[in-house]
Amino acid sequence: MSLYQTSNLRLALLRALPKSFANALQQHPSPIPIDVSKAHIQHEYYSSVVRENVDYAIDVDVDEKHPDCCFIEDTAIIVGRDVIITRIGAESRREESRAVAKVLSDDSLKDFEFRMHQLVAPACLDGGDVLQLGDKVFVGLSLRTNLAAIEQLEKILPGRIKTIPVGGGLHLKSVLSAIDDTTLLAADSRVARQMAEEIISALEGKAQIFYVPDVVAANVVRLGPKLLIQAGYPNSEKILRKAALDRQMEVITLDMSELVKADGALSCCSLLVP
Ligand code: GLY
Repeated sequence: MSLYQTSNLRLALLRALPKSFANALQQHPSPIPIDVSKAHIQHEYYSSVVRENVDYAIDVDVDEKHPDCCFIEDTAIIVGRDVIITRIGAESRREESRAVAKVLSDDSLKDFEFRMHQLVAPACLDGGDVLQLGDKVFVGLSLRTNLAAIEQLEKILPGRIKTIPVGGGLHLKSVLSAIDDTTLLAADSRVARQMAEEIISALEGKAQIFYVPDVVAANVVRLGPKLLIQAGYPNSEKILRKAALDRQMEVITLDMSELVKADGALSCCSLLVP
């Protein structure tokens, strides 16, 4: 099973955008404030697309005390049957993982036979720093993810972790993502190129890479035969459409402009299980 399989994924976890979203963390506060009503519409459309394209979706209860709670990807990593509940790097977000851990360990998901693990202090890790490709798990060493987390992950997934220093941007996946197990996508910037080249070299060159001119467009989500990409970046879209067409994938464009203001990429808003 692969996150990039052509058939539908089995499970997705989503978490609604809270009314408090205007207070979400912003690495570089936008000069134009977040339009929370528009953010709700954008997030709800994203969620509906995910729900329609997975076998089963669960909505984790929204948490108004945590303005970033819709960025559910940061709360857990799911690698095969291993579920690793993270200890989120930003202290104000740390409690977001608790509700997700409860859902994933619920009896209703017992058929998934998840093995639950929990990262503990001093580890800090955001799921946005984790990219799975084949049997490798690339982990960004970033503003949010530290070496202690990588050491704990190595014990849970021996031999599978590869550390990638994040030279810029919030997370590893702020500047790169994947279309399938051997196709990487990265922003056409010095920092992203360096990170992408490290990944390709860890894959012993057995992967192709596409560079896109817009950083935001470098984060995509693969949902079975569909590829979700950001709307509003025509030069990047042209490259992504060609890559998708060559792989017989259908493209769905989503406008996530208000979530981008809070450093939200497409992958941030769901937790996917193949
Ligand atoms: N606003 C997303 C984050 O900072 O984690």
